Amino acid sequence: MAELTRPQAGATLLLMTGTTALPPALGRFNPRVTLTPAQASALTREIVVLKKQLNAVVLAHNYQVPEIQDVADFVGDSLGLSQQAAQTRADVIVFCGVHFMAETAKILNPGKIVVLPDKDAGCSLEESCPADKLAALQQTNPNFWTIAYINCSAQVKALSDVICTSGNAAKIVNAAPRDKDLLFVPDENLGAWVMEETGRKMTLWRGNCYAHVEFQRESLLRLRASYPAAKLVVHPESVREVRDLADAICSTERMISYCKTNPARQFVIVTESGIIHRLQKECPGKEFLCAPAVDVMRAPTDPCHCSECKYMKMNTLEKVRDCMQRLAPRIELPKPILARARLPIERMLEISARPEHAD
Ligand code: 13P
Ligand code: SF4
Repeated sequence: MAELTRPQAGATLLLMTGTTALPPALGRFNPRVTLTPAQASALTREIVVLKKQLNAVVLAHNYQVPEIQDVADFVGDSLGLSQQAAQTRADVIVFCGVHFMAETAKILNPGKIVVLPDKDAGCSLEESCPADKLAALQQTNPNFWTIAYINCSAQVKALSDVICTSGNAAKIVNAAPRDKDLLFVPDENLGAWVMEETGRKMTLWRGNCYAHVEFQRESLLRLRASYPAAKLVVHPESVREVRDLADAICSTERMISYCKTNPARQFVIVTESGIIHRLQKECPGKEFLCAPAVDVMRAPTDPCHCSECKYMKMNTLEKVRDCMQRLAPRIELPKPILARARLPIERMLEISARPEHAD
């Protein structure tokens, strides 16, 4: 039996009551409760004071836990976050996301302090592409033009010609020189989608996001049969059979604008469940279904099968407060890497800022 619950901001999240009543393969969204409201507001007050004392800006990715999103100065996707990092006047950047995102902020602000609440907040895509292996592949073809998805290490960025995010990948690929052989690293699923979008052939690195490849076509088809009016909104890190079902394929930021402007009232969201918080706040009166993911590591008794990125969820409000008090863990990078990795990021920001159809 479905029960509609109405969070404070007015949007509706469809929760299912009891495991036996779940329609086939519907993921139940259980917001992670780690703090009492009193604890959360006490920590939030401390963070607000620290922000002023340090002249700090708190940047948070759309997958962060709700209480971090609520205290952040900006919440967005990888593109929005790098644009914010490029223009901030703060002295300290508190980056609530994963390691490669904080590194990008440091590369754009080598003179500033950049802290990450949990130093172990990594990314399976970043891990899949070691810089030495990329350098070896690049040696095999001097005509390669390397386009690196931002989900990679600073060392990989330093070996690349241009960076892209899921929000601008097609634009970046369309702007790549026509006489070059394009090499796309490290996400084979995003790369395959961009090839379809642009018609540009590329050599793809065989990496993927461990969380997004868990989404399966069969469970989404069953969900669609139960909710025929719902729009299916899919992140391009998902596999092709899942992307083929989508009404919209987009970055996390475009998911928000799509759900805001689309007249549909129900949406199945095929990405990390943290984004549901913003969707609920910014789309009053609409219903969001968290797409089910198969996660072999999840306890079999846990009725929630929503997708969570274990790395994104390493950050907590307490760790945000602690990293501001200690100014650690801090992102530090060797000067030559900082200088070389900046070039492809700046190229991305420049291409991204071009008016549409300027290429
Ligand atoms: P977005 O840039 O779309 O927010 O994606 C980042 C990410 O890590 C997706 O898994
Ligand atoms: Fe990396 Fe996937 Fe987590 Fe995004 S969701 S940070 S791609 S592991």
